[in-house]
Amino acid sequence: MLETKRIDGKARADRLVAEVAAAAVALKAGSGVVPGLCAVLVGSDPASRIYVRNKGKAAASTGITSFQENLPETTSAAELLALIAKLNVDDRVDGILVQLPLPKHIDPQRVIDAIDPSKDVDGFHAQNIGRLWSGGKALVPCTPYGCLMLLRDVLPSLAGAEAVVLGRSNIVGKPMAALLLAENCTVTLVHSKSRNIPAILRRADILVAAVGRPEMVRGDWLKPGVTVVDVGISRIAAADGKSKLVGDVAFAEAQGIAGAITPVPGGIGPMTIACLLRNTLIAAHRRRGLSEPAI
Ligand code: GUN
Repeated sequence: MLETKRIDGKARADRLVAEVAAAAVALKAGSGVVPGLCAVLVGSDPASRIYVRNKGKAAASTGITSFQENLPETTSAAELLALIAKLNVDDRVDGILVQLPLPKHIDPQRVIDAIDPSKDVDGFHAQNIGRLWSGGKALVPCTPYGCLMLLRDVLPSLAGAEAVVLGRSNIVGKPMAALLLAENCTVTLVHSKSRNIPAILRRADILVAAVGRPEMVRGDWLKPGVTVVDVGISRIAAADGKSKLVGDVAFAEAQGIAGAITPVPGGIGPMTIACLLRNTLIAAHRRRGLSEPAI
């Protein structure tokens, strides 16, 4: 039986974080610049608070100055846009991240498109999306870029591979499709209205699953040898009465079928934050016309 490789996203993320930290030291030594990242949190969603806190801690650990703006749930769109305008002209801030989701009364794309695209470290601004799809110099969304880094580590070449992306979100699925296309994969985007999803998935040499439906993808939906990147993370009840975190792919069923698979947790999660720090470092260089470190 084929032995399925476990892709260690945590180890890869630790390596990237160390590279970001070293590049931040070099930037400070060479030009006196200390990169800054500002996370904006509107409201008090507990999960969002944890994400933002973790991003801030990770930034500080790499020598990136971390700023945080906490606004109440009742904040108006105009107030949030005024804060973005202030951060856009604050030279200490190289990266602006508005944690999503926003309260329902605020249109997220309007807010994202108000961010200076050169500081849009999420890569969600229309200009960065357009550049990503047209092959220009973009800030690339963190989670799909992290997926791509892991795929490049595992596979000698992505060119010509059948890549299936499950999920069409703006945060993961769509930018993932753009990145795989740029690698010359044959890309299929599968979504909730797709017909015969198992048959499409069985064609995949590369599968990126990002729908947040616990263990939706069964072992017999996988082509033998497929490389699986599992972005989903859901908490479900476990047999012992406790709960556990699972991905979109039934991990145990994939053993012996997939060539390689990311675990949940310990796969993509750590890569997302590491790529955010990388983007902040890149933004700090690009905004000043400095040549970027190759990390
Ligand atoms: N909410 C869930 N994922 C993300 C992300 O990657 N960036 C931001 N800003 N919000 C999110």
